[in-house]
Amino acid sequence: MVKICCIGAGYVGGPTMAVIALKCPHVEVAVVDISVPRINAWNSDQLPIYEPGLEDIVKQCRGKNLFFSTDVEKHVREADIVFVSVNTPTKTTGLGAGKAADLTYWESAARMIADVSVSDKIVVEKSTVPVKTAEAIEKILMHNSKGIKFQILSNPEFLAEGTAIADLFNPDRVLIGGRETLEGFKAVQTLKEVYANWVPEGQIITTNLWSAELSKLAANAFLAQRISSVNAMSALCESTGADVTQVAYAVGTDSRIGPKFLNASVGFGGSCFQKDILNLVYICQCNGLPEVAEYWKQVIKINDYQKNRFVNRIVSSMFNTVSNKKVAILGFAFKKDTGDTRETPAIDVCKGLLGDKAQISIYDPQVTEEQIQRDLSMKKFDWDHPLHLQPMSPTTVKQVSVKWDAYEATKDAHAVCVLTEWDEFKSLDYQKIFDNMQKPAFIFDGRNVLNVDKLREIGFIVYSIGKPLDAWVKDMPAFV
Ligand code: NAI
Repeated sequence: MVKICCIGAGYVGGPTMAVIALKCPHVEVAVVDISVPRINAWNSDQLPIYEPGLEDIVKQCRGKNLFFSTDVEKHVREADIVFVSVNTPTKTTGLGAGKAADLTYWESAARMIADVSVSDKIVVEKSTVPVKTAEAIEKILMHNSKGIKFQILSNPEFLAEGTAIADLFNPDRVLIGGRETLEGFKAVQTLKEVYANWVPEGQIITTNLWSAELSKLAANAFLAQRISSVNAMSALCESTGADVTQVAYAVGTDSRIGPKFLNASVGFGGSCFQKDILNLVYICQCNGLPEVAEYWKQVIKINDYQKNRFVNRIVSSMFNTVSNKKVAILGFAFKKDTGDTRETPAIDVCKGLLGDKAQISIYDPQVTEEQIQRDLSMKKFDWDHPLHLQPMSPTTVKQVSVKWDAYEATKDAHAVCVLTEWDEFKSLDYQKIFDNMQKPAFIFDGRNVLNVDKLREIGFIVYSIGKPLDAWVKDMPAFV
């Protein structure tokens, strides 16, 4: 029986290994982590992450050929293939701070693999890493091993949170990069055979190591670039009377461009786009390519601009002050169908409103009060270090309250902001919400999911990103 061990039981390690276990009953899969609460949660009825379809798979395989454990060394020692899916956050201090990837967690995993191994292994980079990381990892493994042979593969993960299981069942492609040596090709073939249990062979792409590593950074940069491109257009639409949805449709019907990922919004979030592009920028700078670095940096700048623009629009529409006004936030996760709040635009929007002394009342169907308070008190980039998984002494932001019901959150509010595109927000009773709000009642739709004509009929003053502006919003004198 082939034994697989995955170091890192997070948003990638958990679902990916659960699907491998389901599709390969002849393979034993152990997912290990240094976080005791995380592993306990994987072994309980309350999984640590919300992902549609995940719970069923875990229940089917757990205890049969899928195991979650904190005994990292034992499972690594016994494995034939070791996936490493640990955090690769942005460095917060030292050389490259604010841009470069922090490979501390990766390096400590590699050193541990070298220390405990007693047989040859294939080590798979599942985390998103800077191009050329495999070279560094090889050095660590080779220098510490006692004649044991390691083959390093790059097998970046392309799943999207919220649709992780569907993406893993039916991936556009699986990418495997390896050394172009006999041993390298053999290792690639071994991993290919695992995926071939359910992925058609034509969709398994094999490349050299550096192409695989760089392709992941490139794919995230291209995806984020589309969002920043359409968001940049949304600002121009508001100034000219064009409608960004119509523009995006007209642009996206060109088969060379395609219709996906062209929704204007308050900005992209999630644990990957910003950190991976910052990392790409840093790699370009280190390789003496400042123009290329500047090009990709602009994608992040437009995203920050879009979040600021949204906050400014709220404040300026409401007589240039939200001080002591209740503002309801509907949705805190960075997208629908996930409870993940890493780099969610909601953090920046809430911090912007708190800076203007608003009273904030938040409702999200999947995010707890503890998580929201933690996010609003944590420093930039700190969230992606495993310490954030440990219980933290509660520091509460007093101007923030969290409700488990959209009607409670919006009661007596001056304004409602939709920051996540949860389906349930489309079918709320907005007449009831309007009746219970202060007047004039404002709605700022940061995801363009609401029926604005209906809201205007009810009496709301409405702002939707990149759409023709209400006279109220347009004619507000600019005080700043
Ligand atoms: P995560 O934070 O959810 O999980 C990482 C886990 O690794 C944590 O539970 C942490 O405790 C554990 N860990 C850290 N160091 C460890 C060590 N030395 N030994 C054992 N466990 C250790 O992160 P997530 O989202 O799963 O991401 C992991 C990697 O995958 C990152 O490089 C990320 O960029 C990449 N990725 C993430 C995607 C996503 O949608 N979240 C998609 C594709 C790639």
